[in-house]
Parts: sequence; C-alpha cells; structure tokens
Amino acid sequence: MRMRPLRILVTAGPTREYIDPVRFISNDSSGKMGFAIAAAAAQRGHAVTLIHGPVALPAPPAVSVVSVISARDMLRACVEHWPRYDALIMAAAVADYTPAAHSDEKLKKTGDEMTLKLAPTADVLATLSKNRDARQTVIGFALESHNGRANAASKLTRKNLDAIVLNHPAAIGVDRSVVEILTRDGVWNPLPDAPKDETAVRIVELAESIAAGRLAAPSESR
Ligand code: CTP
Repeated sequence: MRMRPLRILVTAGPTREYIDPVRFISNDSSGKMGFAIAAAAAQRGHAVTLIHGPVALPAPPAVSVVSVISARDMLRACVEHWPRYDALIMAAAVADYTPAAHSDEKLKKTGDEMTLKLAPTADVLATLSKNRDARQTVIGFALESHNGRANAASKLTRKNLDAIVLNHPAAIGVDRSVVEILTRDGVWNPLPDAPKDETAVRIVELAESIAAGRLAAPSESR
C-alpha cells in the first residue's frame, strides 16, 4: 500500500575540509548510495531534497539539490531544512575533523616536519536527531571496518536513531552494497548483496514504514 508522499531530506557524499586554498582533507565517499536513495524516494513520489558534498554525479531527476563543501556547510544546510521534513536519511560521510586553522594563502613548504592541528566538527546527524519532534524519522549510516554490529548499535542509541544502516569500507565507490539494518527494536535485517539502487529502495521503504508509525501516533505519545 502506498502512503501519502513524505518530505524526505537525504544527505550524500564526502565533505572537504580545506587547509589552504588548494589543499583539503576528505574521504573516499562517492555519494552513490545517497544519490540512489534520493532518486528512489523521488521515484516513489516523495518530495526529496538532497544535500551533498563534492561528488561527480548528476542530480537525480525530480530531486531538489543543495551542494555544500565542508562539514560546517553541511550542518548549516541541514539545520535550515530539517524543520520542514518528515524524515532524514543521513548517508553523507561527514568529516569528523577539520583543520583548526585555515590559511587564506597557499602554505609554503619549509623542508621541516609539519604538524596539522585538527578540531572536531559538529555531528550533523546527532544534532538533527536531538532537534526533532516525535513525528520526524531519522535514519543514519555506520561505516565500520571492524566490530560492525556493536559499533552501529552504539551509534543508534547514542544518536537516538530510528534505524542505522551498517556498511563496510568495501562499499565505497562501487555500485553494489551489502548492508545490514538495525532498528530500534534491536532486530538486525541483513539485505542481500545488490546494486545500490535496489538497496536504496529497501531503505526508502523502511523510512516509509517508520514514518507511517510516527505520523500516525496520537499526540500524547509523541
Ligand atoms: N555523521 C554526521 N556528522 C559527523 C559525522 C558523522 O552526521 N560529523 C553521521 C554520518 O552521516 C552517519 C553517522 O553519523 O550517518 C555515522 O557516521 P560514521 O562515520 O559511521 O561514524 P562517526 O559518528 O563519525 O563515528 P566513528 O568515527 O567513531 O566511527
């Protein structure tokens, strides 16, 4: 049964943390999973906004796209949009650290050792989850190289998520994914090895079912 269209906010891709005008810290995220989720959600009739970091992917059809660079930009754009959405699917690989100082001029080499001081960024997912009302659904991702289930379960609790999608570094940049999803009831649901656009549909279906429950709950239990 198709539900009424949701307003879904999706994030994707890496962020870039600039050291100087030409150098940055980033990660290998291609954005493919988040773009596939945004495309699948729009295809299912939802109103979708995709906030993404630097990627080499075309905008999915019928999706409103906001392009950002840094973790700070990602936070600002997400905080601004979030109050108007029913669900968040946070697939972006947001940098955890950013250079403590940014140089407006290109840094010159000195021949000596150099130490780069990093400062933590804000956790976008935890911030949005904390600032939600009970009608809003929040799904996060966990990228884990070891102790996947335990680490993902702890993120679900710590960031107060409705569900978390666990994936592995091998999924970065490729077109297929093998993920497992943990929901608040403690049940793990492994999805089959499939192209990312098929996995994306499963994730959107999950968002639909969680959102249906949250939107239908009587106000006193919110
Ligand atoms: N996330 C975020 N803001 C950050 C870091 C992560 O919103 N500054 C989100 C990611 O988009 C993802 C979830 O948090 O949905 C988990 O990201 P992950 O990189 O797996 O974990 P971290 O929270 O960064 O923790 P750790 O580095 O210890 O694994």
